[in-house]
Amino acid sequence: MQIRKVGVVGLGTMGAGIAQISVQGGWETVGREVTPELGERGRATIERYLGRAVEKGRMSATDHDAALARLSLTTELADLAECDLVIEAVLEELPLKREVFAELSRVVRPDAILATNTSALSVSEIAEASERPERVVGMHFFNPAPVLPLVEIVRTPQSDDDAVEAAYAWAEAAGKQPVACNDTPGFIVNRILIPLLNDCVRVLDEADLDPADVDKAMTNGAGWPLGPCALLDLIGIDVHVHASEALHGKLGEERMAPPARLVEMQEQGRLGRKAGAGFYEY
Ligand SMILES: NC(=O)c1ccc[n+]([C@@H]2O[C@H](COP(=O)([O-])OP(=O)(O)OC[C@H]3O[C@@H](n4cnc5c(N)ncnc54)[C@H](O)[C@@H]3O)[C@@H](O)[C@H]2O)c1
Repeated sequence: MQIRKVGVVGLGTMGAGIAQISVQGGWETVGREVTPELGERGRATIERYLGRAVEKGRMSATDHDAALARLSLTTELADLAECDLVIEAVLEELPLKREVFAELSRVVRPDAILATNTSALSVSEIAEASERPERVVGMHFFNPAPVLPLVEIVRTPQSDDDAVEAAYAWAEAAGKQPVACNDTPGFIVNRILIPLLNDCVRVLDEADLDPADVDKAMTNGAGWPLGPCALLDLIGIDVHVHASEALHGKLGEERMAPPARLVEMQEQGRLGRKAGAGFYEY
């Protein structure tokens, strides 16, 4: 099926990035936020990032203006009725996502594709709340969405083949590197990365090391582009702890549970780059 118009529900960190990818890729895009002020904030984020691309010579001023002109804002889910693909990026709360999918499935056309950007919830459980679970897939982008190429295209047992294929094809047309996977806890990357980062943090305490030395070891010895502590600061300690708890809840393996040090950092507000302090000061 051809995707001509895209809806993005939630223009927070991930939603604004996804909407940016969409307008840059040439699609008319409707962004839905809960208030007009939050919508404008999302638009400002997109404008800022597109502006930087112009400054760095990666985009012309004409393309910048044309991309921004493809974005419209609304506070009503009903205004997504004309969209062929709707990507949801609201808070990681199952009841909220289920509510959004129930309403979306009532307003969009029967063949529209509904995608969730959930990191750790079950796509099937979200899909079950919609009137058309066969049109629901996961599209898991990585933060920052306009920069990181991967999109995990998550198929549930109910997903139609053509919905999965269309989501995959859209991601590719938008310049991303999609990978198809199944609706298993953590999908691919988080299933591997979350326990691995937890192990790195446990080593800090077990071996009485400095974060900078663990980072130095992993960048120089394992070829990681970023050390685990720097990466956790970038992801956000709260985001990581939440995802760890979700994965631990589903798989029950001790390695999945957030180490005490990360829980303490979260309680102290040392959330990483966005808070100005985490393992490092910013
Ligand atoms: N941040 C990441 O690193 C990352 C990476 C991949 C996927 N995700 C997933 O993306 C989703 C969004 O995460 P984020 O980091 O962009 O969060 P965020 O806090 O930046 O944005 C949350 C969005 O939810 C909206 N929202 C809040 N309450 C709402 C309500 N009652 N009804 C409708 N919308 C409401 C907000 O207005 C905002 O647009 C989550 O499912 C998260 O797991 C996050």
